[in-house]
Amino acid sequence: MCGIVGAIGVNNPREYVIEGLKNLEYRGYDSAGVGFLNKKIKIYKDVGSPSHLDEILPKNITSDVIISHTRWATHGVPSKKNSHPHLSMNKKISLVHNGLIDNYIDLRNFLISKGYTFYSQTDTEVIGNLLEYYYLQNNDMLVALDKTKANIKGSYACAIINEDYPDTLFMMRKTSPLLVGKGKGFNLIASDASPMVKYTNEFIELDDYEYGYITKYDIKVFNRNNELVDKAVTIKDLESYSHDLNGYPHYMLKEIEEIDTVIKKLVTAYYQDNEYQFNKDLLNDLKESDHIIFLGCGTSYHASLVGGRLFENFNNISTTKYIASEWAFHPTFPGVRPFVVLISQSGETADLIHCQKIIKKKGFRTLLITNTPGSTLSRGATYTLLIHAGVEVSVASTKAYAAQVALLSLLSGAINNDKKVLNDLKDTIRVIEYIKNELKDKIKGIAEEIKDHENIFYLGRSFDYFLSMEASLKLKEVSYIHSEAIPGGELKHGPIALVNEGLPVIVFITDPTTANSMRSNIEEVKSRGAKVYTISTKDLSKDEDSLVVDNYAYYLSGVAVSSIAFYLAYYVSLAKGYNVDKPRNLAKSVTVE
Ligand code: AGP
Repeated sequence: MCGIVGAIGVNNPREYVIEGLKNLEYRGYDSAGVGFLNKKIKIYKDVGSPSHLDEILPKNITSDVIISHTRWATHGVPSKKNSHPHLSMNKKISLVHNGLIDNYIDLRNFLISKGYTFYSQTDTEVIGNLLEYYYLQNNDMLVALDKTKANIKGSYACAIINEDYPDTLFMMRKTSPLLVGKGKGFNLIASDASPMVKYTNEFIELDDYEYGYITKYDIKVFNRNNELVDKAVTIKDLESYSHDLNGYPHYMLKEIEEIDTVIKKLVTAYYQDNEYQFNKDLLNDLKESDHIIFLGCGTSYHASLVGGRLFENFNNISTTKYIASEWAFHPTFPGVRPFVVLISQSGETADLIHCQKIIKKKGFRTLLITNTPGSTLSRGATYTLLIHAGVEVSVASTKAYAAQVALLSLLSGAINNDKKVLNDLKDTIRVIEYIKNELKDKIKGIAEEIKDHENIFYLGRSFDYFLSMEASLKLKEVSYIHSEAIPGGELKHGPIALVNEGLPVIVFITDPTTANSMRSNIEEVKSRGAKVYTISTKDLSKDEDSLVVDNYAYYLSGVAVSSIAFYLAYYVSLAKGYNVDKPRNLAKSVTVE
């Protein structure tokens, strides 16, 4: 979603913001803009990419204080007027914003009654005008920030400049992420660390309702009671934020090809000296809980389906698995001692932050499974487990999914101190390497055959069904083909009505207990004209199957063969000429509900 990059005192502000915005492109955007102070506030913005912004921005910017933004439209169409930065009516204040202001219509009407005029359709313009309205009452920007915060409802991360403060960049935050990068003789601000890691490795994360300012030499943060807060500095290294393609043409391909390494790294992180390395209190909490609620969105929700089934089958713990945005509005806490597992690659997903607030109010304990240390969700969780996948730039999540599933399987093993999963994971690594080295051409061939279809079915049962859901989402995201994942047993309860001549049906058969039933499903769709592509394991395979891999433990399909689904989506997108790393309308980090 929207990305913020700002700085004060940095040597080449132009280069910093353009490069920084490019680093945030993975979050999704439709327009981009820059604002800086040169006696007056100057703004350059337009629909399009940071590269386009680079073309329209003056070559020399000498300003000390600068803010910039990539917008992902929510209120108002993508247009120059709706792009950020926005300027207050009297041109005193300009700001960039990530988030959603729920009460912007009321505030807009209030400001109109005070003589304000609005030029955009955005909720953000309300914040700028409200800040200016309060600022003009007493010429104190901190008071204006405090009053504005008190009146806006919703989520916001804002970087703000004021014409009267040429040496200061203001900021405030609730729900949407905002980080300060601590420099020597300069300070930085951004939505995540990636634009700043070239300049510093010291970071301060703003918490909800915190606000303040940065100057060249100072960082001041205040809490919601206006008390100065002594913020902890965290260290983040350049390597883990590297957006280097390492010779790959696309991030999605690079990230799929990293899956085997990620799984190896994960096993080493959580199993050393013949012992599982999980926090003992976490394991006790899981064992003592009589019900575990899994929450996630999109791909992370698909991983949570696997996690729930593992805990039920192997640990005998009852679970429910919910899409976070569904649970948030009607939360339920089954059992007497529920425990909640939240799964989020980014750690910044607004729907989950909403859930976390509800859980905290109830006082229940939580585990976050994430790729992002220090993220908003991580700071709010009782425990955090990292998936150690390294930065995932492609909007379509791939290696993070495989790592989430692998981590859940290790955790399930650790609860019972059952070490079988370690060997099972070793088997999956061999399968992943085989797919990478031997099957890509075949997958490309299937991609060519299916690319012009409007509808595609994925079929599987149990763990293969969960994988089918992820495979189907991936295909939708990057190829814009409509696809459905259907549990084999459900076919005849409705979806089979859609099967017609030539419909591509991709079938996963990797589970001995469901293999026979899946073969019957294949006959059902074939006899109605479907073109079937079967992915199977050696012992369950038939000659006509499209892709056959070595045997592995059936509950690990999300690790072992998810790369087949990812390569397939990747090659279809490429064959159709789409921007595979930045699919339309999607954002990497979904920071609004
Ligand atoms: C995955 O390919 C998607 N882009 C999306 O479904 C994603 O998994 C979802 O938005 C959740 O994100 P999170 O894991 O960062 O919370």
